Amino acid sequence: MRVLVTGGAGYIGSHTLLELMAQGHEVCVLDNYSNATPQVLTRVRALSNGELGDVTGDVRDASTLDNLMQDFRPDAVIHFAGLKAVGESARKPLAYYDVNISGTLALLNAMSRAGCNKIVFSSSATVYGEPRYLPYDETHPTNPMSVYGRTKLMAEQILTDWAAADAPRGAVLLRYFNPVGAHASGDLGEDPRDIPNNLMPFIAQVAVGKRDALAVFGDDYDTPDGTGLRDYIHVVDLARAHVAALDYAQRHTGARPFNIGTGQNYSVFDMVKAFERASGRKIPTQVTSRRPGDVAAMLADASRANAEMGWQATHDLNDMAASTWAWQSKNPDGYGADS
Ligand code: NAD
Ligand code: UD1
Repeated sequence: MRVLVTGGAGYIGSHTLLELMAQGHEVCVLDNYSNATPQVLTRVRALSNGELGDVTGDVRDASTLDNLMQDFRPDAVIHFAGLKAVGESARKPLAYYDVNISGTLALLNAMSRAGCNKIVFSSSATVYGEPRYLPYDETHPTNPMSVYGRTKLMAEQILTDWAAADAPRGAVLLRYFNPVGAHASGDLGEDPRDIPNNLMPFIAQVAVGKRDALAVFGDDYDTPDGTGLRDYIHVVDLARAHVAALDYAQRHTGARPFNIGTGQNYSVFDMVKAFERASGRKIPTQVTSRRPGDVAAMLADASRANAEMGWQATHDLNDMAASTWAWQSKNPDGYGADS
């Protein structure tokens, strides 16, 4: 299949490119490098030994999209391009609505003009908001608590209406839990530009000495060790979920959400210990106050993805920690060292 991957140079996109190419798909990336570097694609090419098309451009730009649709003629699109920092989304709401909503609209318009009917979308478990029950299944009410989360839910609604409007259309909405880990080679991984917002990249930077200690955001939650519980999902498992979703989209019409998680959750201290085991290094921690907007626990019921797409996670906590350490120790300055 010919697959256009928006945001393909990013963290999750880059790992997905490798899985797509390994399955024989023909792939073209559209990225504006607002949160990535072209070096990523050099590494993907080296790891895959394969052909990979790429276009530098913005997903909101209609003429770039029309040219791509005409030249590459994709059978399907995987739409990763977007802004993703929860805290920043409160400070710059219009930027988030612009990229995440106008970007999705521009893409769907171009797909409609070109007759491209299948899309896989990067959504997030954050669309559920405060849990009414756990694990979340896909019928759990949605009530996102951030601007970022609202852009994801609105995009899901737009995709659902688009898919319903014309019979051959299909949209697969993947609600990721907490993506972590890296490619086993240590050559691809997550490369935050500023101070990491998320737990795993922060721990990794403490391990290589870039940060002094991990601030643990609260140890007074109603959880076994008092710290937050999350359903961490290895990025390679997540990448494979996109390949399964493409196959699903070919066989189905309409829109359907799927949770992408493991069905198991871990605390902040579990993650610290796993990383200490994988790296052989001590991770100093300091308990601080809770982070506003955090929930005590998240957990996926991922049985729908298993039953309907034949997908399930195969990597465990040790794989997540070991691959993150392989990436961080080999690339202490991320992709920056390449440029
Ligand atoms: P990322 O920032 O590493 O990747 C996003 C990519 O999109 C980057 O390469 C960036 O340069 C590109 N991009 C951004 N705006 C663009 C634009 N206007 N035009 C073209 N390209 C643009 O993020 P990621 O972690 O790989 O996340 C990918 C997607 O998954 C995002 O939509 C994100 O919201 C979603 N998601 C991520 C997580 C997570 O924890 N990483 C969780 C749930 C959902
Ligand atoms: C955050 C986002 C969420 C997004 C998800 C994946 C917020 C409020 N939520 O969720 O919308 O979908 O990332 O990108 O930002 N922690 C620490 N110290 C740190 C960092 C995190 O103790 O320096 C704790 C957190 O309190 C939490 C756990 O580690 O209990 C995981 O945090 P994080 O990786 O940021 O993910 P989420 O909070 O699930």
